Amino acid sequence: MVESKYKEAIGLILKCDADRIFLYWKGRVALYAILKAMGIEEDDEVIMPAFTCVVVPNAIIYLGAKPVYVDISTDTLNMEIDLIEDAITLKTKAIICQNTFGLSSNVEEINEIAKKHKLFTIEDCTHGFGGLYNGKPNGSYCDAAFYSTQWNKPFSTGIGGFAVINNLELMDNMQQLEHEKFQPSLLEQFALAALIIFKNYLINRFTYWSLVKLYRFLSAKNLIIGSNQGGEIAGITIPEKYFKNISFIQIITGIKELKKNNSINNLRQKNAKAYTCFLMENGKTHIAMNFFENHSFLRYPILVENRDLFLILAEKSKISIGDWFLSPIHPVKQKFDLWKLNLNNFPIACSISQRIVNLPTDIKNNGEVINFLKSNIEMIK
Ligand SMILES: Cc1ncc(COP(=O)(O)O)c(C=O)c1O
Repeated sequence: MVESKYKEAIGLILKCDADRIFLYWKGRVALYAILKAMGIEEDDEVIMPAFTCVVVPNAIIYLGAKPVYVDISTDTLNMEIDLIEDAITLKTKAIICQNTFGLSSNVEEINEIAKKHKLFTIEDCTHGFGGLYNGKPNGSYCDAAFYSTQWNKPFSTGIGGFAVINNLELMDNMQQLEHEKFQPSLLEQFALAALIIFKNYLINRFTYWSLVKLYRFLSAKNLIIGSNQGGEIAGITIPEKYFKNISFIQIITGIKELKKNNSINNLRQKNAKAYTCFLMENGKTHIAMNFFENHSFLRYPILVENRDLFLILAEKSKISIGDWFLSPIHPVKQKFDLWKLNLNNFPIACSISQRIVNLPTDIKNNGEVINFLKSNIEMIK
């Protein structure tokens, strides 16, 4: 069966048994399943970074629970470890840590805190598949981990995701939940297959900006299978048939894409080194070499002044620069109280989300990007 073959291929890279892997339509659905398997329900609290994608707090809110945010640290862009214990209350049930842009950090310390307070831990490895943390694959340390295979993730099946369970006590619940998954419709499968073909043949540095804009516009209007449906950004109501299974097209695409995992990871490290050297030579903020071992560099984050202008200049130069996370719960820009987020409490996340952009790392030739940075060096912090 192709499903077992896909799980085995993932398991080989993550060094885990295939039967501990569960497949879903999207990464956020994998998180939802994990939270459900952990018994998270009405009024429970889940601690998470204030620098993520809105679909993470959404999965918590859909279960009636409350996301409790922790500000991030400037060097890791992950939760500031010293702030985590202050966020714990009698209602806290779990802590989500995140491999932001591919960097995992403080996972052992977070696990220690969780153990002390008898909490579950979940690793958001949506940026970190294929990377290592202190020698072990990302996702090995917490009770459970989830991964995304959406367009711009470490490997892509268009949209898609999976969960890995390390705490075997959760296995029965995860298996039970398998029976509750909605099956993707034929129309959804067909539309996704068309998008995958379209992306493989039509996206390049010349078409990147216009196609990304078109895709975001169409998915916000629910006119296309999108990374985010309009309602997921505008509010906190669970979308119809949210708890959805993976489809055949995603599985076969995943099996094919996983074969490139090693070479792409090497390329990401090589480009990241070139960016760090360039930024260091020019006295700019950069990712220090001591982080490289635990960083899989899905993207390379930099801070800029006047981000809007920087993005316009990148578009003109045909450089595929990313704009995430442009808010502590990307891409939400208003009504933060719906997501229980008081921006005043997260000064670092707010400041970084106003200035951050990210550089591509999966490109064969980084010369164009470095030339672009050189030409706009005064805008880089
Ligand atoms: C940090 C983070 N967590 C979770 C997700 C959700 O992944 P998916 O789009 O597969 O649901 C994303 C998506 O982009 C993300 O950036």
